[in-house]
Amino acid sequence: MEKFDVKDMKLAGKGKLRIEWAERNMPVLRMIREEFKKSKPLKGVTVVACLHVTSETANLLYTLKEGGAKVVACASNPLSTQDDVAASLVKDYGISTFAIKGESNKVYYSHILSALEAKPNITMDDGADTVSVVHTTHKKLIPGIIGGTEETTTGVIRLKAMEAKGVLAYPIIAVNDAMTKHFFDNRYGTGQSTLDGILRATNVLLAGQTVVVVGYGWCGKGVAMRAKGAGASVIVTEIDPVKGIEAKMDGFAVMPMAQASNLGDVFITVTGNINVIRGEHFAKMKDGAIVCNSGHFNVEIDLPALQKMSSNKREVRDYVMEYTVKDRKINVLGEGRLINLAAAEGHPAQVMDMSFANQARAAEYMVKMGKTLGKKVYSVPEDIDRNIAALKLKSMGADIDVLTPEQKKYLNSWEMGT
Ligand code: NAD
Ligand code: ADE
Repeated sequence: MEKFDVKDMKLAGKGKLRIEWAERNMPVLRMIREEFKKSKPLKGVTVVACLHVTSETANLLYTLKEGGAKVVACASNPLSTQDDVAASLVKDYGISTFAIKGESNKVYYSHILSALEAKPNITMDDGADTVSVVHTTHKKLIPGIIGGTEETTTGVIRLKAMEAKGVLAYPIIAVNDAMTKHFFDNRYGTGQSTLDGILRATNVLLAGQTVVVVGYGWCGKGVAMRAKGAGASVIVTEIDPVKGIEAKMDGFAVMPMAQASNLGDVFITVTGNINVIRGEHFAKMKDGAIVCNSGHFNVEIDLPALQKMSSNKREVRDYVMEYTVKDRKINVLGEGRLINLAAAEGHPAQVMDMSFANQARAAEYMVKMGKTLGKKVYSVPEDIDRNIAALKLKSMGADIDVLTPEQKKYLNSWEMGT
């Protein structure tokens, strides 16, 4: 058996059942898998996948393997691994996996290094940590790498910064930027699974609460929409005036965090930015306030500042750390790490189906076209994106109209007016 480091191999049976459960709701990825089985587009290619190790990810990894790839997996966050899935990947799918839920940052990075021992031809990231390791301490791997793919907004931002500084050494496909990824995964996936994480961790009733959503990008829109649907009053904070108007016209209160901080019962950060909730905000929060993050890194909430202001800290439930600040309690969920993957199971399979169909197609495209690409961040080709949309729509039992020849001609003309 290949090398691995997982929590407990005895969990494999449960993991396999959960992987198969997710598979039922991933029809587009299943279709790609059937095609890959025959055409083997990834034959001879080693993929190192640094992704959240979930039942949905297992279906992607299995698809890549069926396409002929050697696949090695590691976690893309210390708290997002599903240990039963990690065990099953090793035992039932023959995929070397290095991931343990709750691992320290040191073990997290040692797992990335273990995965990189496989000498990737393709890196597949969620947050760009593998690319970052390759470009700093493991540059010797670069000549063997055709290219990489990136799953999330924060990873794409990091990679575009590398491209701008001229340090990016191989092409990357920004899977996050596909329409069939961020319109759905970031919005509906994060919207539902973030609330799922908060509810599983705290069992609070959202109806009648004031929920402060920090950031009204794709994730923030989904979280605000679902919190409203659960009966909460929603306040949005933003730094972008256009997003601010959008939130206002969507019916939400919009104000700076300095004002929102003493009104909120539940605070959710989804900005991809650093220290968006700070000491001056904690100082004004209500007794019992709940604070959590669903952005990629655990930097959005200034936990060192909260720690400094607190006289005591204790874990009162799984994933709930209660800080005592003077006469008040402030509850931080999941150590400020993405709460949907820490306390719940991440996005449901139905939405990961499209995200991971894009990943599989991006890997196939990279093998075919990588040598012709520059050291840049590329979009998923539009025909791939639209084809995934068409397949998903069909799988959902819905259909759309087709342009008539007259309509096609009209849309390409200028002569006909008032
Ligand atoms: P986005 O760029 O669409 O939105 C981010 C928003 O935050 C922007 O509108 C920006 O103006 C706003 N913002 C930035 N700084 C702010 C501040 N100080 N105060 C208030 N608003 C601020 O990005 P997105 O796609 O919504 O992703 C947000 C984060 O969530 C990223 O870190 C991304 O990687 C992550 N993400 C997490 C999951 C998950 O499963 N939890 C899924 C997808 C994306
Ligand atoms: N990101 C958000 N949800 C996820 C999931 N279920 N699997 C992998 N990555 C995710």
